[in-house]
Amino acid sequence: MPESRHTYDDRKNILREELFGEESFDGPYSLLYHMGEPTRVKAVKKVPRNPVDRDHADVMLHRHFQTGLMEKKGDFVSGRRCLMFNSTVRLSVARTSEKGRSLYRNALNDEVYFIHSGRGTMKSVLGDLDISEGDYLYVPKGTTYTLDAPSGLEFFLVESRERASIPPRYLNVYGQIKEGSPYYTRDIRVPRLNAPSTDRGSFPVLVDFGDYFLLEERDMNPFDVAGWDGYLYPFAISTSSMAPIVGKLHQPPPVHETFSGKSFMIGTFLPRKFDFHPRSIPISYYHSNIDTDEVLFYSSGNFMSRKGISPGSVTLHVRGLIHGPQPGALEAAIGKADTDEVAVMVEAYEPLKVTGDAMSVEDKSYMESWYR
Ligand SMILES: [Fe+2]
Repeated sequence: MPESRHTYDDRKNILREELFGEESFDGPYSLLYHMGEPTRVKAVKKVPRNPVDRDHADVMLHRHFQTGLMEKKGDFVSGRRCLMFNSTVRLSVARTSEKGRSLYRNALNDEVYFIHSGRGTMKSVLGDLDISEGDYLYVPKGTTYTLDAPSGLEFFLVESRERASIPPRYLNVYGQIKEGSPYYTRDIRVPRLNAPSTDRGSFPVLVDFGDYFLLEERDMNPFDVAGWDGYLYPFAISTSSMAPIVGKLHQPPPVHETFSGKSFMIGTFLPRKFDFHPRSIPISYYHSNIDTDEVLFYSSGNFMSRKGISPGSVTLHVRGLIHGPQPGALEAAIGKADTDEVAVMVEAYEPLKVTGDAMSVEDKSYMESWYR
């Protein structure tokens, strides 16, 4: 990179500087130095997309979707199946059958993947990141990338119009992750930049505008960055390196927070010791989540407070209806020392709508599972 930003070192070989930033020029950003012009696009065309099969829920109910029953299809873009959405978040799952083939850029949303199974490599304009089961992968909106997973991937995906970030309360005023947070700087894996490509050929990039794609036809490989620095970049964190917070008494979900936006949070329930009060009830109390809809993606382990749940299950606990342990779960939990569960939680302030894809794998008996 040049010694100073906005300058060149070699008049005969000027690198093309791109400011890659969120929130206009006020948010986090990185400076990327391309070999070619990042604006070089031969043609663009609109590509229609199957619209999200909207709002199929007739009434608000607690629901259970068995996404493990969905057939495997597509790649990391075409295989996405939206389950729920509101105006700021979109929650999807994918069970891919094809290796990632598209170069892709999400124009509207930050993306937080939770890798439920499989392994692969995210190859991006900022470098490569290997990912595997149990990882979170954060991709800022506007990143050009592909997700190469030859043996298939299963993931739960949160797309967010709002910036999805490390929860601000985990950061000190200097921007460092504080002691007491469930993960640390060293747990964050950053992309590894390879030698810049100078390949010419056909490099189509699918740009995701939600209801349609724009296909950019490029004749140079967009992964032509010779160097970058800054604060906006994809990263991965393994849930196995996280340190869940436990206590003498039952800890509320916010201690399990992993990422947050203005109107949602993503939390992770991890293998952990249960509460150590001699008469503790180690599972969740009954609760009314008055202002949020609560979604859980169950990945692995024994989900003690829930019957009929299996890996890949997604539950929706809606505001307005009390939920909590199912009959018998509380008694069964007393005296247990630990849990091996891994589950991802999303709380959304704006009501979520349920799609036809979700309803196609709904376990309709879930609401009755609290009554016997
Ligand atoms: Fe809950």
